[in-house]
Amino acid sequence: MSGDDYKTMTTADIRDDFLRFFANKGCALYPSSPLIPEDPSLLLTNAGMNQFKEYYQGLKTMREIGACSCQKCLRTNDIENIGDSSHLSFFEMLGNFSFGGYTKADAIAWAFEFITDARHLGLPKDRLYMTVFEDDDEAAELWEAQGVSPDHISRLGVEDNFWAAGPTGPCGPCSEIYFDQGPEFAGVKPGDDGDRYLEFWNLVFTQYDRQEDGSMPELPHRNIDTGMGLERIAAIMQHKGSNYDGDVLRDLIGVGEALAKLRYHQNVATDRSLRILADHSRAVTFMIADGILPSNEGRGYVLRRLLRRAVYHGRLMGIRGSFLARYSHEVIRLMADVYPELTDNQPLIDGIILAEEERFGATLDAGEASLGSELTRLAAGADLPGELAFKLHDTYGFPIDLTREICEGAGHGVDMETFDREMAAQRERARASANRDAWGKAASVWVGLSDKLPETLFEGYDSDICRSAKVLAMVDTDGREITHVAAGERVEVILDRTSFYGEMGGQVGDTGKLVGEATELVVTDTKHHEGGLVSHIANVVSGELEAGDTVDTVVDHDRRELIRRNHTATHLLDAALKEVLGDHVSQAGSLVAPDRLRFDFTHFEAMTPDELGRVEDMVNAEIFAAEPMVTRVMGIEEAKASGAVALFGEKYGDVVRVVSTGKGEKPFSRELCGGTHARNTAELGLFKIVSEGSVGSNARRLEAVTSVGAIEYVDERLQQLDRVAAVLKSRPIDVLARVESLERELRDAKRQLSEATLGASAGQLSSLAEAAVQLEGYRCVFLRLEGPTGKELRGVWDSIRDSMGGGAVACVVASTTPDGRVALLAAGTAAAVDAGFHAGNIIKKLAGTVGGRGGGKAGMAQAGGSDPTGIDRALAQAKSLLAA
Ligand code: SER
Repeated sequence: MSGDDYKTMTTADIRDDFLRFFANKGCALYPSSPLIPEDPSLLLTNAGMNQFKEYYQGLKTMREIGACSCQKCLRTNDIENIGDSSHLSFFEMLGNFSFGGYTKADAIAWAFEFITDARHLGLPKDRLYMTVFEDDDEAAELWEAQGVSPDHISRLGVEDNFWAAGPTGPCGPCSEIYFDQGPEFAGVKPGDDGDRYLEFWNLVFTQYDRQEDGSMPELPHRNIDTGMGLERIAAIMQHKGSNYDGDVLRDLIGVGEALAKLRYHQNVATDRSLRILADHSRAVTFMIADGILPSNEGRGYVLRRLLRRAVYHGRLMGIRGSFLARYSHEVIRLMADVYPELTDNQPLIDGIILAEEERFGATLDAGEASLGSELTRLAAGADLPGELAFKLHDTYGFPIDLTREICEGAGHGVDMETFDREMAAQRERARASANRDAWGKAASVWVGLSDKLPETLFEGYDSDICRSAKVLAMVDTDGREITHVAAGERVEVILDRTSFYGEMGGQVGDTGKLVGEATELVVTDTKHHEGGLVSHIANVVSGELEAGDTVDTVVDHDRRELIRRNHTATHLLDAALKEVLGDHVSQAGSLVAPDRLRFDFTHFEAMTPDELGRVEDMVNAEIFAAEPMVTRVMGIEEAKASGAVALFGEKYGDVVRVVSTGKGEKPFSRELCGGTHARNTAELGLFKIVSEGSVGSNARRLEAVTSVGAIEYVDERLQQLDRVAAVLKSRPIDVLARVESLERELRDAKRQLSEATLGASAGQLSSLAEAAVQLEGYRCVFLRLEGPTGKELRGVWDSIRDSMGGGAVACVVASTTPDGRVALLAAGTAAAVDAGFHAGNIIKKLAGTVGGRGGGKAGMAQAGGSDPTGIDRALAQAKSLLAA
């Protein structure tokens, strides 16, 4: 049955054909949204419908009958299963969607047409099976109406045929399409565990909105959400039994074969590693291209885990050194025509992968060392405790397989029961957070307003004032839409036009005034909301305001000028950093405020003073060149083609602003940017970097100032210098020389002081030497001193020996050091040692009495202690020990 009774198609052909098919049906073609979802409650984009959430909820309406897309998705709740022949972390999902625009009957008819029509997939009807939700007679009838025989339609329960993005939110019954791979595969019916009946397309009839209390009111309209795994349908269309045998993934497995010098399908363990590498390396490449950086939490942690698991499996297969870039280059070669963000971010992908590979290599080494020392502590044949194995895995990312392998080599097992229990608990925690689903973000008043109001026009690029703007809506502090406010109240005002810049792209919101005929509002901040709405957050200081009124919008001019300059400075800084550090530098966040700017960017180590100096010089050179800042409005494609820098995850419209320094073909900086800028770089006056630091393992943060801020910064520094000079009683220019000479003086003074202390001790001892005690064969001095340190006691011993004229002499000296601790010394000449004196033995016995430890040789031994109250006892002890 598995013969070639249908045609063959490549992944690229299927993707193309699917999107064309649904575009021809009238669906709007949407590009894939990034892997970082807009919805903050969702960790990673995990389904095609994520980007359409608000359409499902009826908060937005689409002009077309629906949408279609090929969406990048990432699911990692089953990461341990990846490596078998079907599971994937990253995958592409083909989908068509309707938000009331077309019906369930249409969706079923079109799906059937697409998979059976010879101009499209042309799959044989007798190999297709459908499942429907248990009581969904309608779906069953619709399939039958397409000519599907009733014995190819089965009913499944909630587990299989009811789809929800999460515990609450839009959901509904679904119908799945299965392909019969033939009797050589295990399995007897669709929905069982076998591979014979392979589900490849899920049609969800999203019609309910599940509430916290479990009730399921109907959504405003009946929706369609379908998802077809591209890798799976590609494998089917290429007559292969496994996702990994489809064209794209098989190519990536080939990279591993070449690196490890072995062949796929020859050994179960290496096959698993080859698949893990193919899957994880692709996921990692796409994640970094979308701006995710490795970290220990959230999506950064997912990235790190995938990357490390890939590196580890490379090691398992004997691949040495850094190798993941070989995979990412192949991913780029295979997929960049559809996902150009891969090519755009190649330097970053390379840099991050290499840095993580090196870091993890070190972790593996450290983990092996730590495990090694644990093993020496284990009784022969005992199991390594499961908690320890879990800790190695969880804290150091040290893989359990490796732990087991090393333990086995040393004749130990691992308590896997405890390890598995800990792992299960951790998975539960991960699931719980992943289930905070696609619909988590509460629908706010802004979503509703954005549907009925036009985007706010920003007219503040060239002017601070915009006359007669109309009040379109107002929202009170409880988030309710209102139509009237009076003096003393606080309100968010939406106008048709404004000169106020709403906080965006790091640039802070403007402040200023809204002025009506008998009304004045003081605007304390300006924000952006859904659908390009700009809200002025304001206090009404006099008069009243009604929806429909007109006001003049007056931005605080001086503050705005400072913001303009700092925004221009971030562009210059970005360009200079790329120049000095390399193309892997990519903006990872910024703050453009009136008093300073903050710029986060990807880079793998601290910047050196030399690099900082070069960056600063380069930016200042642009400022002194007094280049005009030129803004051109153009199509997004033209902008990208011009080489303008675009930001990660930033959504750009079809028409964009491109801001460049100067008119030339090769400007110092050229970026896509909606912010406000200086008219000429000279307005920045001066640029100074104030601090450089780390924000995460692969990101750095710079803070800098310009113009007034830079002058203030330099002034403050100079004033500090003046104050220091005044204290030093010197001129600022001589401060350094003065400090150096003071340092010298201080060093000398310290030396003199210690010599003086020693001199005094020597004085004490010349008289005490006479009081030396005669012991068996040598004379010994017992001495208590104040001041000398351990080091200085050696000099004391020299003085004692000299003052006693050599021969068989020894001493035991205890001193209270200047920091309140105790220094002990015992020493004897060779003749004293011959006579039986042993400095090391005596010190070992005394040390405990002064709260310390120590020892040494027969001729000289020292100890430090923390308890000066024990000194007298120690000396008495010494006398009695030696006299014995
Ligand atoms: N949202 C459904 C799924 O992910 C159909 O696209 O399976």
